[in-house]
Amino acid sequence: MLTIRDIHKTFNAGTVNEVRALQGVSLHVPEGGFVVVLGGNGSGKSTLQNAVAGSFFVDGGSIQIAGEDVTRWPEHRRARLIGRVFQNPFSGTAPTMSIAENFALATRRGRRRRIRWAISRSVRDELRERVRGLRMGLEDRLDSAIGSLSGGQRQALTLLMATWLKPALLLLDEHTAALDPKSAEQVIRLTGEIVGGLGLTTVMVTHSMQQAVNLGDRVVMMHKGRIAYSFSGAEKQRLRVDDLLGRFEELRRREMLDESTAALLRESYV
Ligand SMILES: Nc1ncnc2c1ncn2[C@@H]1O[C@H](COP(=O)(O)OP(=O)(O)O)[C@@H](O)[C@H]1O
Ligand SMILES: [Mg+2]
Repeated sequence: MLTIRDIHKTFNAGTVNEVRALQGVSLHVPEGGFVVVLGGNGSGKSTLQNAVAGSFFVDGGSIQIAGEDVTRWPEHRRARLIGRVFQNPFSGTAPTMSIAENFALATRRGRRRRIRWAISRSVRDELRERVRGLRMGLEDRLDSAIGSLSGGQRQALTLLMATWLKPALLLLDEHTAALDPKSAEQVIRLTGEIVGGLGLTTVMVTHSMQQAVNLGDRVVMMHKGRIAYSFSGAEKQRLRVDDLLGRFEELRRREMLDESTAALLRESYV
């Protein structure tokens, strides 16, 4: 479960570079809920995820994960509750280490144990089965360096690692944006299977309206640090790409109107 109440974040406050990245965002994701976040470049999607993960403290508002108020928790403490996958297939894994070694690291996340690179036979068997489930032919390559794999294979493995310990919350930030269409489709299919199979509470950022239509039980569209639209229930089920395009267009028109009004006001004062 994730509950975000009225969070605000301003970067470089009081300088010429001031950015009001989050301007009062509230969002409740029930246990097992799957929210897809859409929005133009710079609308605050990644900042929202970073606020939840604790990359910085919010200026106002509160964040609850799995019943805990984590608003003032440092990032490493929240990491025990959160699985994350980012856009870049090269982040999140150690490229020179093998698949098995990367999993040995990932499955120790947040647990006190002595450093051992090897994984036990039973864990290795489980790993092979779960990697087989990805249907990418990687089950026989557990000792290959992650760096030798394709972007799609790496993202699939990163997703598996991020969800291995069944996190209370899964955060995906455009995790298919850097992939070719076929790999993206494959990783999205796996995302649906893993999230559905484990019943994970998930927030997925994407720029793909098709993904937003196909996945999840709620879609929110961000604009200028706020949630401009939200679709859930039957409305989400009925949602089509054209509906979303229409809403984007509406936001763009509103923005142009704001800009021209501002320009008019400026002119009338010179
Ligand atoms: N660490 C930061 N320092 C300064 N500005 C930032 C920082 N992170 C994000 N921003 C700004 O906040 C706004 C929202 O960014 P972001 O959340 O990354 O957008 P997106 O919706 O594309 O993921 C942008 O104007 C971005 O430049
Ligand atoms: Mg982003």
